[in-house]
Amino acid sequence: MPQVRALLLGTGIAVPPRVVDNHMLSRIVDTNDAWIQERSGIVERRYVEPGVGSADLGAQAARAALADAGVEAAEVDYLVCATMTPDHYFPGSGTLIQHQLGIRPLPALDIRQQCAGFAYGLQVVDALIKSGVARTVLLVGCDVHTSLMPFSPRTWRVLYGEEEALPPEEFAWNSQFRHLLVLFGDGAGAMVFRAHEKDDGRGILGTRLYGEGAEKEILHVPGVGSRRRPYVSHEIVDSAAAVPVMDGRAVFKYAVSRMPEVTRAVLADHGYGIAHLDLLVMHQANLRINEAARKALDLPEAKVHNNIQKYGNTTSATLPLAFYEAKAEGKAPEGALVALTALGAGLHWGSVLMRV
Ligand code: ACO
Repeated sequence: MPQVRALLLGTGIAVPPRVVDNHMLSRIVDTNDAWIQERSGIVERRYVEPGVGSADLGAQAARAALADAGVEAAEVDYLVCATMTPDHYFPGSGTLIQHQLGIRPLPALDIRQQCAGFAYGLQVVDALIKSGVARTVLLVGCDVHTSLMPFSPRTWRVLYGEEEALPPEEFAWNSQFRHLLVLFGDGAGAMVFRAHEKDDGRGILGTRLYGEGAEKEILHVPGVGSRRRPYVSHEIVDSAAAVPVMDGRAVFKYAVSRMPEVTRAVLADHGYGIAHLDLLVMHQANLRINEAARKALDLPEAKVHNNIQKYGNTTSATLPLAFYEAKAEGKAPEGALVALTALGAGLHWGSVLMRV
């Protein structure tokens, strides 16, 4: 009997229509297009309108993935959602997406591994299908980072050119978050997997994942949580403790070494080397990180796909967004060996190997 594997049937994405370029950001924080492009590679990103949550984007991407897969929503028997910006503190977004899709009650799981969330989700899908717990699994990654920005309504109006310049004190206050603001965008991506019994080598082959809490401080949200009583207060909001804190240089250092290391390891687990890889999809946190990782792996440019230029870092949505585009460009034809790798807050990191 051939081993059951999780085969990717379809991928879908959802990005909000509002495009925000670097010049627009310089209206609200002390930054400029040249700095952002040189340090990160980002040219523009997408923002949702107020009232749109990550589950809304997730449901939209899920519909697109189901259509791409040719699978009816009713055929899904397990839903996994990765997000670090859920619509609510609880419940998680899995059931919100299930409800929006109009699927009958089914197991709906939320996972929170930030930028590595989709990679972790792929391991969950693999385990659910290999164990026989599920046959058709919908995996969604969705994040709305605009919700983390502590800006006033006036700042948003100035950003969109609806009002003239900000007063200097508000501009200066906003600017303390400039290193974060410029990096992130909103988006969602989804994949549909099904149990595959043919002995053709296709499907998820394996995963290597790691989590290490010792470095939690380099990227985390200090306020808003169960150590606070109440978990949110005026004091937390006024002191910006609900905004992520990030030591960009430290994250950068980990990303450039761990993504290549874990990708080599997952390939070796299955008897492959870098030369066997047809496509490497890396998390999109910084183009310089991905260039350094590509060089460390000695991979030609044609075997990676970067789209951070258009979307910035979309956290859980990044891997499916980049894979979707790479596939559309013909970089992942049927039978291609593809690795997806990411590193993010936690720290969490890992690499997933699949033959599509
Ligand atoms: N515009 C202009 N200047 C800026 C900006 C900005 N947006 N942000 C920072 N600067 C300034 C700094 O204040 C500093 O000024 P100084 O020299 O006068 O002190 C200078 O630019 C250099 O700052 P660095 O932080 O040293 O710049 P660096 O080259 O490291 O780039 C960056 C910063 C882009 C954040 C980079 O470190 C990075 O991308 N790190 C990785 C981020 C990442 O991977 N995050 C993961 C998210 S994953 C998740 O789980 C959510």
